[in-house]
Amino acid sequence: MTSSDTTGAVVEFRSVSYSVPALPAPILDGLELDVRQGETLVLLGESGCGKTTTLRLVNRLLVPTAGEVLVEGDATTEWDVIRLRRRTGYVIQEAGLFPHFTVERNVALVPALEGWEASRVKERVRELLKLVGLEPEKFAARYPRELSGGQRQRVGVARALAAEPPLLLLDEPFGALDPLTRAGLQREFQDLMTRLSKTSIFVTHDVREALMLGTRIGLMQAGRLVLLATPDEFLHSTHEYARAYVETLQL
Ligand SMILES: Nc1ncnc2c1ncn2[C@@H]1O[C@H](COP(=O)(O)OP(=O)(O)OP(=O)(O)O)[C@@H](O)[C@H]1O
Ligand SMILES: [Mg+2]
Repeated sequence: MTSSDTTGAVVEFRSVSYSVPALPAPILDGLELDVRQGETLVLLGESGCGKTTTLRLVNRLLVPTAGEVLVEGDATTEWDVIRLRRRTGYVIQEAGLFPHFTVERNVALVPALEGWEASRVKERVRELLKLVGLEPEKFAARYPRELSGGQRQRVGVARALAAEPPLLLLDEPFGALDPLTRAGLQREFQDLMTRLSKTSIFVTHDVREALMLGTRIGLMQAGRLVLLATPDEFLHSTHEYARAYVETLQL
């Protein structure tokens, strides 16, 4: 770590904008944000506001068109991209599993790339499948097409955790789950984050989930960060857009 030692931030967005030539307005506009060591920073906002784009800038699937994103003190453009990706477990929206790999091989992907011993990889896969509520005996040998949408998402979460990356990027990881399974996984996630003191950026459009899991909530609207608040501050915010979200809780 370099400058992050002084700021305590694992990820820093410095005046970040992202534009594409096809669109008149930038997709992200002047984003300023620090994600601190050990916190779960939730990005909350409506469909199309730029949440996924923000995540993709962190592991350099995208590069800012203005400003910079720093990870552990270094701009993403300065990082060796392979190293950066292995330090950031990424749960993509829709899980993004390799269809021709079994569940076991999907989860084992990064540990195998990291050269872990086969027995250790196998043990780790078992441990993770159990953690996300999938019996290894039943699911390890299946292919993604043989799973339900929610099961695929859980495999996606297991895969992102597999090599114990210090930074997690989670894009609506529990989106396709029924409320009970979802609540169970949210609790486990919360427990895991405290136990392992990982840093994460967690994307959701569900205000309940944001309030439950976030140490801070970044509210996004049309490519801008309009509010950054703790759950308690968020609940009592006078910001109009935050209030609109809070009002949905009373329904
Ligand atoms: N390569 C691209 N070219 C043109 N428009 C794009 C491109 N990538 C993203 N967009 C647009 O940028 C906006 C932000 O997209 P993004 O995927 O970040 O939204 P999101 O907040 O993750 O939405 P959702 O909740 O639906 O997943 C959207 O309006 C999208 O259509
Ligand atoms: Mg998205």
